[in-house]
Amino acid sequence: MKNKKITRKITQGMYVLTTKGGGCVVDAVSQVSGGDNPLIAVAVMKQNYTNKLMHKNNTFALSVLGMDIDPEIIQTFGFNSMKDINKFEKVTLNEVEGIKVIDSSLGYMLCEKVDVIENETHTLFIGKLIEADVYKDGEAMSYGYYQDHKDDFIKVKTEKGKTAWVCKVCGYVYYGDTLPDDFKCPMCGVGSENFVRKEN
Ligand SMILES: Cc1cc2nc3c(=O)[nH]c(=O)nc-3n(C[C@H](O)[C@H](O)[C@H](O)COP(=O)(O)O)c2cc1C
Repeated sequence: MKNKKITRKITQGMYVLTTKGGGCVVDAVSQVSGGDNPLIAVAVMKQNYTNKLMHKNNTFALSVLGMDIDPEIIQTFGFNSMKDINKFEKVTLNEVEGIKVIDSSLGYMLCEKVDVIENETHTLFIGKLIEADVYKDGEAMSYGYYQDHKDDFIKVKTEKGKTAWVCKVCGYVYYGDTLPDDFKCPMCGVGSENFVRKEN
């Protein structure tokens, strides 16, 4: 048995990962060491454009999303690819050491890439914290909160009169009255438990 729903209980936040040329929403982020220059790991799907950029560049930033974050930011960075739109034109940004960060976030962490671990579907990038700032006080949004309120965040347009199942990880749309239990997202590979039903 592998009931992956229990993994949602791992405390996980919501971030916008940025590097030169692009970025995307990520939740797979962990501080993996303490000390003066802590190590921070982020897992990026290989099919994401951001993955290519992360291989090319030596620095990246994580903007921490608070409970007050405009859902448009999650929409822009989490359901679109820099291959198709210029995400940076749609959002107010600051620039730190040449890396764009989200102005309306709680703050950012700027990291220097120190290690890269390849996995089947994801690459784990490990960075050393080199600069950080707090923009404002506030509660960080957890991935669990996002999961429980995903309908407020997912605004993918679906065809009228059809039952649609939207992948809440990448926005892929499957049409059909039912979604097979063993369905895997053809875009990002996640299972049926990550799909949300939409009707319009
Ligand atoms: C709530 C949420 C969490 C996400 N977490 C991750 C993640 O941890 N790693 C990842 O690679 N993509 C994650 N994604 C998916 C990317 O943000 C998404 O595929 C994005 O469109 C990729 O854009 P790009 O092609 O410009 O890189 C997440 C999306 C959402 C909405």
